[in-house]
Amino acid sequence: MVAAVRVHKPGGPEVLTYENIEIGAPGQGQIRIKHHASGVNYIDTYFRSGLYPAPSMPFVSGNEGAGEVTAVGPGVGDFKVGDRVGYVAALGGYAEERLLPAERAVKLPKTIAYEQAAGMMLKGMTAEYLLRRTFKVQKGQTVLIHAAAGGVGLILGQWANHLGATVIGTAGSKDKAELAKASGYHHVILYRDEDFVARVKDITKGELCEVVYDGVGKDTFPASLDCIKPLGMFVSFGSSSGPIEAFNINILQTKGSLFATRPTLNTYNAKRDALVKSANALFKVVASGAVKIPVNQKYPLREAQSAHRDLESRKTTGSTILVP
Ligand SMILES: NC(=O)c1ccc[n+]([C@@H]2O[C@H](COP(=O)([O-])OP(=O)(O)OC[C@H]3O[C@@H](n4cnc5c(N)ncnc54)[C@H](OP(=O)(O)O)[C@@H]3O)[C@@H](O)[C@H]2O)c1
Repeated sequence: MVAAVRVHKPGGPEVLTYENIEIGAPGQGQIRIKHHASGVNYIDTYFRSGLYPAPSMPFVSGNEGAGEVTAVGPGVGDFKVGDRVGYVAALGGYAEERLLPAERAVKLPKTIAYEQAAGMMLKGMTAEYLLRRTFKVQKGQTVLIHAAAGGVGLILGQWANHLGATVIGTAGSKDKAELAKASGYHHVILYRDEDFVARVKDITKGELCEVVYDGVGKDTFPASLDCIKPLGMFVSFGSSSGPIEAFNINILQTKGSLFATRPTLNTYNAKRDALVKSANALFKVVASGAVKIPVNQKYPLREAQSAHRDLESRKTTGSTILVP
């Protein structure tokens, strides 16, 4: 038996239940991992609340982790007992140990610590595909990133800066704005107090941004579209304030023939080759020192409820992890 945090019915943080479960030996193509740390992500709250339907009930919460391989199932050639690995995979992360399809794991370089890996596999590979594949950010461009001091936000800001962009962020408090400014953002707007569209116009002298990365959703739409240059791109990658409601696509015409996309990491890294390239790009930019992974909250696994409460009440900055 191993300790795990399961959800038996959708609901608030109180449905996260710390209990013992049986996980067994790895099957065909699987490895067994002993977690050293598990990542906490906003998507975990969507599965917990029922916004995203869970494939089965009960389920073990969590979509990201890092640890060592303790057993290898039949047909697994790339991993052996003792390997240090990190992964992103739907559900099963909030547990002392888990089974995982080997094709979803990547070996961690020696330079990447377990807790750092648990704080960056999901958020960092998301930053990788958003900045390098959804919209290829180029030197000299201007980007707007909402929730700049959040987990994905702090990585996006540093990486966009590294790519040579002028990086504008929004944040919910002065402390968060200071943190974002120390993490690659050239300008940070306090979007709970200030009109962020007016501030973007002011900062860019009316030129606006090539791309807006919006993980906030409901509260920043459709205003985000007014921050984008003609033919620019609106990237809606999350909904921490709630989902964007259905809208008339003609708005993209009236705002300047804009492009809009709603991407997910799962699609971008569905193939193993893409996953490995994405992870390697992340490891490289972290090893270079250009992107640092701020693991600013660490809770014992049994306190997953507190981790979710803090994340949803906007108390956290950077990455949050659980440790067994
Ligand atoms: N599509 C993908 O592939 C993908 C992958 C990873 C993450 N995501 C999305 O990226 C976003 C960020 O994820 P994360 O795990 O790094 O979370 P996070 O940014 O650390 O936390 C969410 C932040 O959203 C902001 N926010 C604005 N309105 C809010 C509200 N009403 N309630 C709660 N928070 C609000 C808060 O920052 P302020 O106080 O500064 O406003 C809060 O700290 C999420 O929407 C997530 O679903 C998408």
